[in-house]
Amino acid sequence: MRKWIVAGNWKMHNTISESVALARAIKDGLSNSASGEVVVAPPFTALTAVAETLRGGAVQLAAQNMYSEDKGAFTGEISPVMLKDAGCAYVIIGHSERRKYFSETDDGVNRKVKKALASGLKPIVCVGETDEERIQGVTESVVGRQVQGALAGVETLADVVIAYEPVWAIGTGKVATSAQAEEVHAFVRSLIRKLYGAAADELRILYGGSVTKDNVAELAARADIDGALVGGASLKPDGFLGIIAQMP
Ligand code: PGA
Repeated sequence: MRKWIVAGNWKMHNTISESVALARAIKDGLSNSASGEVVVAPPFTALTAVAETLRGGAVQLAAQNMYSEDKGAFTGEISPVMLKDAGCAYVIIGHSERRKYFSETDDGVNRKVKKALASGLKPIVCVGETDEERIQGVTESVVGRQVQGALAGVETLADVVIAYEPVWAIGTGKVATSAQAEEVHAFVRSLIRKLYGAAADELRILYGGSVTKDNVAELAARADIDGALVGGASLKPDGFLGIIAQMP
C-alpha cells in the first residue's frame, strides 16, 4: 500500500514571517496525516524558520530546487548539504517553471536527482507536457523522455517521488480530468515497471496542476494517483488543509 503525499509548493511567495504563520496554521490544523505524508516547500529564505515551526509535528519540509554540487564557486546556488542542514527531507526537482524560465534540461535534472539521493534528500521529480505537446499527441513520448532522463543511472527508487504536472494545468484553473491524469500516471508506472520491475508498485506518483479541495478526491481515487503537488491552493491554510482532509 503506497502512502499518499500532499505537498505544498509555495513557489516565490511568502516572507519569513508569512511562511512561519502559514506553517504554524498547517501544523496546528492537521488532522489527517496518519495514512499519508504532508510536505511544505517554502522559499529558501524561510526554510530554517519553518523547520523550527514544524518541529515535533507531522509536516515535513521540502526545498523547491537545489544545485548538484555540495559546495563551491556557484554564486546564487544552494547545495543539498545546506538543505539537509536547514531541515529538509524532500526537494522538488525539475519543476516546469524551472525548465521554462531557468533552462533546466533533462540532464541537469538527472544530475540533481542523483545528487539529492546521494545526499539523503528525497527528490520529487516533476514531469509534464505542454498544451502544444498534448494537442500534437506526444504526451507519452515527452513524459517518457523526462522520466527516463531524470532517472538515468538511478539504481533504486525507494526515495524517489514523481509528480506528473501537465504544464497547461499549472496555475491555470484548468485541472486535468481524473481520467486524463490517470492515463499518464498509469503510463509512467508501466514505464517504471519496465525499467525497475516490481519497484514500480511502491513508487508514489503525485498529480499537480490546479489541485483544490474540490477536485482532489476524484483525482486521488484513481489507482495510480498517490497524492498531489499543490501550488496556489497551498498558500492558504484552509485550501491546503481542505485538500489533506479529502485524502483517504
Ligand atoms: P498550481 O501549481 O496548483 O497552482 O496549479 C502546481 C505546481 O506548480 O506545482
